Amino acid sequence: MKILVVGRGGREHSIVKKLKENKQIQKIYVAPGNAGMEEDAECISIDEMNIEDLVSFVKEAAVDLTIVGPENSLNAGIANRFQTENLTIFAPTQEASWLEGSKSYAKDFMKKYAIPTASYGVFQDADEAKKHVAEMGAPIVIKADGLAAGKGVIVAMTEEEAYQAIDDMLICKAFDQAGSTIVIEAYLEGAEFSLMAFVHEDKVYPMMAARDYKRAYDNDEGPNTGGMGAFAPIPDLTKEAYQFSVEQILKKTAEGMMSEGRSFTGILYAGLILTKYGPKVIEFNTRFGDPETQVVLPLLKNDLVQVIQDVLEKKEPNLEWHEEACVGVVLASKGYPGTYKIGERVPKFDDKKDTYIIHAGTKKDNESLVSDSGRVLLVGGRAETLSEAARKVYAQLDQVELKNNFYYRSDIAK
Ligand code: AMP
Ligand code: GLY
Repeated sequence: MKILVVGRGGREHSIVKKLKENKQIQKIYVAPGNAGMEEDAECISIDEMNIEDLVSFVKEAAVDLTIVGPENSLNAGIANRFQTENLTIFAPTQEASWLEGSKSYAKDFMKKYAIPTASYGVFQDADEAKKHVAEMGAPIVIKADGLAAGKGVIVAMTEEEAYQAIDDMLICKAFDQAGSTIVIEAYLEGAEFSLMAFVHEDKVYPMMAARDYKRAYDNDEGPNTGGMGAFAPIPDLTKEAYQFSVEQILKKTAEGMMSEGRSFTGILYAGLILTKYGPKVIEFNTRFGDPETQVVLPLLKNDLVQVIQDVLEKKEPNLEWHEEACVGVVLASKGYPGTYKIGERVPKFDDKKDTYIIHAGTKKDNESLVSDSGRVLLVGGRAETLSEAARKVYAQLDQVELKNNFYYRSDIAK
């Protein structure tokens, strides 16, 4: 079997590493990948948005299965294009990926199918949006409707912050077209968790829940990022809340999407918050979460290709999980998610037992690995308990010298 993974970040490296456990796979390609993945897969220099070249490559190389990481490719219709060519791909169509591609679409969908989420309004006019904020009061949440690399959400603790966010998005076009429509949402309180599932039409096979850390600095301070770390499983998530989320959120969503003629195939990700009234949806993603994937896939006992094949054939994949815990901590460029330098020498880590290195944004400069993005790599650890897994990760991170070029949060899973 030959497999292509589309994408270039930590999530894709994690998928590649999981695929590598299967010794029957003849070849794993990743497009475009990054330099740090080269020892695990063959990197093909085709951009994830260049769907035509991806189609040609898959035909020429006789790739049997394509797995897609990033939302941009999904929104651009990669699955539709592959299906037209009769190429096997595990990814939602453009129509189905609207659940992530438009927050107002997702909110209207949830309202229609009575899926628990925060109350909301949709605005294009700044004055009307501000009037709504004045009526609702703070805290309140302002979201760019379209894709904004995880940065289009402002949790405003004061009305002034909310007005500023509205001006930034609707007047100053901080997120271009992605922010020309905004969703304003009631503020919800509670612990957050991420729940992903393999989905095909009305069949939903949930994974283990995980928690990610979106804020840049310790104690959840600083700006929102793409994710600074994650862990799984979640000790404070009850069986009831998990089951409720599967039945009342993921399954209802899969069924609702079928009723809408947007039948879903791929990974459905619900970002959830445990309110005192039960779990509610904060966001949907239509792909593997990053960095959740980096702590969930290592705990999956099953072979990933077998799972995907079963799911596509509507066979029960019987997911099984190691009774262990995983913690992942992201090493980011100093300044991320604001401005930062790339091209800084990436520290070398010991390949110690039970820790693993996932490359998110690295490239080669002569023979050394240097940084190539805000999130550079993730150090992951697996152990019997979360605290032991965290200890292993921090033992790795503490031994490298960061020379003021990189930073990481020191409170992941603590
Ligand atoms: P998102 O990109 O939609 O996941 O939002 C980023 C982060 O903003 C979430 O992880 C939450 O911490 C926060 N957030 C989003 N929506 C809400 C809400 N309605 N109430 C409180 N916090 C929220
Ligand atoms: N960890 C959240 C995301 O993948 O968007």
